[in-house]
Amino acid sequence: GFPEQVTIYEVGPRDGLQNEKSVVPVEVKAEFVRRLVAAGLQTVELTSFVPAKWVPQLGDAEELLDLLGPLALGQQRPVLVPNERGLDRALERGVKAVAVFGSATETFARKNLNRTVGESLEMFAPVVRRALDSGAWVRGYVSMCFGDPWEGPVPISQVVDVCSRLMDLGCDQLSLGDTIGVGTTGHVARLLDALDDAGIGVDQIGVHFHDTYGQALANTVTALSHGVGVVDASTGGLGGCPYAKSATGNLATEDLVWTLEGLGIEHGTDLDALVETSVWMAEQLGRPSPSRVVKALSGS
Ligand code: HMG
Ligand code: MG
Repeated sequence: GFPEQVTIYEVGPRDGLQNEKSVVPVEVKAEFVRRLVAAGLQTVELTSFVPAKWVPQLGDAEELLDLLGPLALGQQRPVLVPNERGLDRALERGVKAVAVFGSATETFARKNLNRTVGESLEMFAPVVRRALDSGAWVRGYVSMCFGDPWEGPVPISQVVDVCSRLMDLGCDQLSLGDTIGVGTTGHVARLLDALDDAGIGVDQIGVHFHDTYGQALANTVTALSHGVGVVDASTGGLGGCPYAKSATGNLATEDLVWTLEGLGIEHGTDLDALVETSVWMAEQLGRPSPSRVVKALSGS
């Protein structure tokens, strides 16, 4: 059944901004994070410690953390780290939560990580071990859990295999990514059942839906009805992956909050403050938020 309370895992500053055509000034990013935290969001993923050559949009990771000061620290401010170099950079800044990001498909592992699936897991192994040793919390993302733009539909057994291997490395939580937004509710239910059969319960799972086909909210409600209590979302519905064709924005945090309100599920956030933040961010980016809830509540 539905959980009583949901943790919203906000990915706007990272997933949202990694795909912007222009680089958002670091002061704007810092202000975005401050507003998100002030709106009650507890978990806010800040940025990625990847080479600027790969993701120029997030080339200011150190600067952002310095600007944020204490607000950037603790187990509820994860950052992405693909390898030990990224982990070193994060630990040097005192980071206490990291996320590695694997792929369920070989093609996307190659495009996003320049590795096979197996080689990427080998790359993550020392990252996860050293992060845990340092007292950090570790999340393992799995991209392309439903479909892949190059390989088509992704077999559930293949997804379960990568999930199991990430859990075996010691990850505290998995995030099931529908990177290109092609998943549908029945598929979500079948994947959660298969993971449960493999010993990975809903208490270890977060869901990460992109809204390309308008299915993100329906898929989220399906996951909630199975007891999933961690939902990734991006304020204003920003987002996408520069290395995945046809990836659009994440589930908008405002759309999620509207639904949680209706279900009577605790979420701890101030919807009006989120909408105000999205309106402000839209001004910074020069285009309106794609979220219907933002449009409705801001009268835009
Ligand atoms: P590579 O080119 O194979 O890396 O890329 P390398 O180890 O050969 O290193 C190349 C150079 O980069 C070297 O420098 C390294 O020192 C340097 P050089 O000798 O040329 O001067 N380097 C670094 N510098 C700074 N920070 C680092 C770092 N690592 C190496 N961490 C690599 C391999 C994994 C680095 C690359 O493929 C990469 O960064 N990929 C990340 C791409 C990315 O960020 N994608 C978006 C995030 S995933 C996503 O959005 C999906 C998600 O939202 C879930 C979903 O929706 O499905 C999470
Ligand atoms: Mg994503």
